[in-house]
Amino acid sequence: MKITKAVIPAAGFGTRFLPATKAVPKEMLPIVDKPTIQYIVEEAVASGITDLLIITSRGKDAIVNHFDKAAELEAVLERDGKEELLRLARGVSDKINVHFARQKEQKGLGHAVLCAKSFAGGEPFAVMLGDDVVVNDEKPCLKQLTEQYEKLGASVLGVQRVGMKNVNKYGILDCERENGRLYKMRGMVEKPSVDKAPSDIAALGRYVLTPAIFDCLEKTEKGAGGEIQLTDAIVKLMETEPVYAYDFEGTRYDIGSKQGFLAATVDFALKREDLRDEFAEFLKRTAANL
Ligand code: G1P
Repeated sequence: MKITKAVIPAAGFGTRFLPATKAVPKEMLPIVDKPTIQYIVEEAVASGITDLLIITSRGKDAIVNHFDKAAELEAVLERDGKEELLRLARGVSDKINVHFARQKEQKGLGHAVLCAKSFAGGEPFAVMLGDDVVVNDEKPCLKQLTEQYEKLGASVLGVQRVGMKNVNKYGILDCERENGRLYKMRGMVEKPSVDKAPSDIAALGRYVLTPAIFDCLEKTEKGAGGEIQLTDAIVKLMETEPVYAYDFEGTRYDIGSKQGFLAATVDFALKREDLRDEFAEFLKRTAANL
């Protein structure tokens, strides 16, 4: 079965980017000139997703507006013959059906994913986290996972090694190599301390899950940080189904951290033909003075 549905949880407060996120959703902060969530949506489109559910909360209306048709703006750009700007304003909204659901209380990532139960409608689906932007110009990260799902018919998590010093920031896997980049999971711990971490292989914001995850989420109690954790529901899922992990190929930016956000901004600007040369000169001058 092909994966055509994806869920992007976007209900969090974004406290790490205050004061910017007081009135602007963190998902709308731009990397160069594109809101971060649009990079995720473009990855979904490039991976064959046709229906997307964005889980929002109070104060996130800018996300809803961003994926809506901006009729007045488009009319002005069309009248003035500004085709390139028109293309940018239209963005991806013509290429994918974007739906929204509100998470009324912020009870954690697991609780947000549970809001997608009726959207999934008993089908397997993808979860994409907005804090993880992954660049792979040949095969998008999510596409790599959906291909594995099609072969295995089982849930697959996108993972990479993060080094032991970073294990306390992620869902960390206990797993054994099946073949090549594929691992079979034995367990998973949310944000363990170094001494409790089973490995340094971390779930990095891309999941393909079978609908059985919803029963598991309904039974999941509050875990790390007092939140209902997707990680804990995945551990429950492993009791009844095999769950795999795939060490995806691509450069991943943790744009939920300021360092990661800055790194993405610099790298993405350097990839842009219209900005590269002048920006590279600026960087060289700046670096020479460090
Ligand atoms: C979430 C998940 C965690 C995962 C991480 C990836 O944590 O709970 O398992 O490793 O995303 O970015 P958060 O960063 O939302 O605290």
